Formats: sequence, structure tokens, C-alpha cells
Amino acid sequence: MTDRPLPLRILGIDTSCDDTGVGIVELTPDGRVTVLANRVWSQAVHAQYGGVMPELASREHVERIDQIMEGALHEAGLSVTDIGAVAATSGPGLVGALLVGLMYGKGLAQALNVPFHAAHHLEGHIFAAASEAELRAPFLALVVSGGHTHLFDVPRDGEYVLVGATRDDAAGEAFDKVARLAGLGYPGGPAISEAATRGDPNAVPFKEPLKGQSGFDFSFSGLKTAALLAHRAGATPENLAASFQRAAVQTLVNTTVRAAQSTGRRTVVVSGGVAANRALRDAFATTGLHVVFPGRGLNTDNGAMIALAGAAAIQAGRPASALDGGATAYAPLANA
Ligand code: KG4
Ligand code: ZN
Repeated sequence: MTDRPLPLRILGIDTSCDDTGVGIVELTPDGRVTVLANRVWSQAVHAQYGGVMPELASREHVERIDQIMEGALHEAGLSVTDIGAVAATSGPGLVGALLVGLMYGKGLAQALNVPFHAAHHLEGHIFAAASEAELRAPFLALVVSGGHTHLFDVPRDGEYVLVGATRDDAAGEAFDKVARLAGLGYPGGPAISEAATRGDPNAVPFKEPLKGQSGFDFSFSGLKTAALLAHRAGATPENLAASFQRAAVQTLVNTTVRAAQSTGRRTVVVSGGVAANRALRDAFATTGLHVVFPGRGLNTDNGAMIALAGAAAIQAGRPASALDGGATAYAPLANA
């Protein structure tokens, strides 16, 4: 636990990509964490380029971060001097973008004379689920977002073993690409999910990727190619969406269930943007495993998940981070 006075309000910042996120959580003496605020500015400027422009992302973070922090404090009903610790993402992500939130967080911590915690973006995604249930190891964590498809075993608190990952596209990236080719718009995940409600999941017979493998990796490029061929052969966007979603959900759920059987884990955290997917949630609900998803608004990139990761670090007694640490584009979470 922590020797700091409780309740402790922790402010978290994420500027790893194209969302400026600031969230605030409260750690109470009984060890519970509550999300008090979660403000995200999603940068629309990139849409015209069809992808994130790193320099534009950094500039937008600089322009928006003050306003987003004010909004988060207002939402929580707090003033800045009520903040007792600050956490910010130091990696992985776009270095220029990361630096904005990281420097802002360090400056804030120094000005307030409170501890600063550098957070790992993926640990943030995982601890987003701490808004719903106390997360104590051992558990499995499936992080499925636009940039990541990682399956971790967490045998002890703070220890991450990578048991599987995508060999090509990330899960969210595949949703985005299939949505684009079907003309369903961006971001693709919500568009596919919505169109799928009007389509037939059996219309296009996708093959399960890496079927028969003994490991726990993922692959989405074959599904993407099959989707392109089905589109050219005249599949409707709705049927394509429903069939692709079913295949993507199947491979994510089946592989995770096999990993749970192999490791003996009973609890699975499913997080990242794709964890917002209704069909994925419904499929995991039938596995018999104890599956924990982040609360509303905490699946995609946000600051509250970083504050939650900061709270977990404080609860575990991890020391505050040095203020001279930098941002890292590539930062593996697994330490084994
Ligand atoms: O976690 P996130 O905001 O960004 C990264 O860290 O990458 O995830 C964004 C990704 C996008 O690819 C988006 O299409 C996907 O999450 N996504 C979804 C849904 N909502 C967002 N994918 C499937 N179903 C959804 N409902
Ligand atoms: Zn993310």
C-alpha cells in the first residue's frame, strides 16, 4: 500500500498518439479506486490524410492539453492543488506526441511537489479494467487496439509475460482496413460493428487464422485479403462486416481461451479500443472465464487508464519515477 495520505487523487495523462487524454482517479483508504473524471480530445485533423501525422499530433496536444486538464478538474469537482500524484505515458507511442504529455505531467508534479509516475501505455490499457474490478495477479490480459494485439500472462503483480501477439496487422487496424474497403468509414471498429447488425455472419466463409497452431499468436492479414476478394466478388458491406467481425472475434476468443487453459488462469482482462466491440464482449461472456472489460469510455486511449496504472503502481509500493526519464517509441512491456 502507500504511506501517502488517503484519499489520494491521481491525475493521469496520455498523449501517445492522436488523443489528448486527461483523467483523475481517487484511491481511498479501503484500497478502492474510482474514476472521477475522464476527458479526451480526439484529433480530427488527421482524417484528411487517412492516417496519423505525427507532427500535427504533437502540435494539437500542445494546443489542447491545458483545456483538457481544466475540463477534467472541473468534471471531478477539484482544484489542481487537490492532486496528490501525477502519472503520464512515457511509451510506447509517437515520441513527439508522448513528450507533450510527459513534460506536462512532470512539470505539474514538480509545481505541486507531488510524486510523478511514468506509465507504460499497455499497462494503462490493462489497468483501465481496474475501474470495474480489483485486478490482482494471476490473470491473462488481451490488449487489442489500433496498434497492439498482445496477449500477456501476469503471474505476479507487475510481471508481464508475452504469450502471444499479432504476426502482422493489429486487430483494430484490421477492423479499420476492412471498413475502409467496404466503404464504411473511419474509425472502422464502430462502423463494422454497426453495419454487422444488419448483415449475415455466415455470408462470407472466412477461415480461422493460424488454425492448428500450438502457440497463441494472431494474424489478421489473411482475413483482410479474404475480405478484399469477397468485396470484389460482390459481398455487401453489411455481410462483409458481419462475417469479418465474426471471424475476428472467433480467433481472439479461441486463442485466449486456449491460453487460459494452458496457463490455468481463470481471470482475463480484455482491453484496448477493440474491447468496446459488443460481439467480442458477448462471445467472451460464453467462455466460462471471469472476463473483465474496462468501463465505458475507458477502452480507447484515455488519461484515466494512465491514472489507474499510476494507482496500481502506488498500491504496489513502486517508487516514484525520476524526472529525467525520456519518452520511448518502442517499449516492450514484457519483462520475461
Ligand atoms: O486503443 P485505441 O484507441 O488506440 C490504440 O492505442 O491503438 O484503439 C483504437 C482502435 C481502432 O482501430 C478502432 O477501429 C478500434 O480500436 N475500435 C473498435 C471498436 N471501437 C474502436 N474495434 C471493434 N469494435 C469496436 N466497437
Ligand atoms: Zn492505446
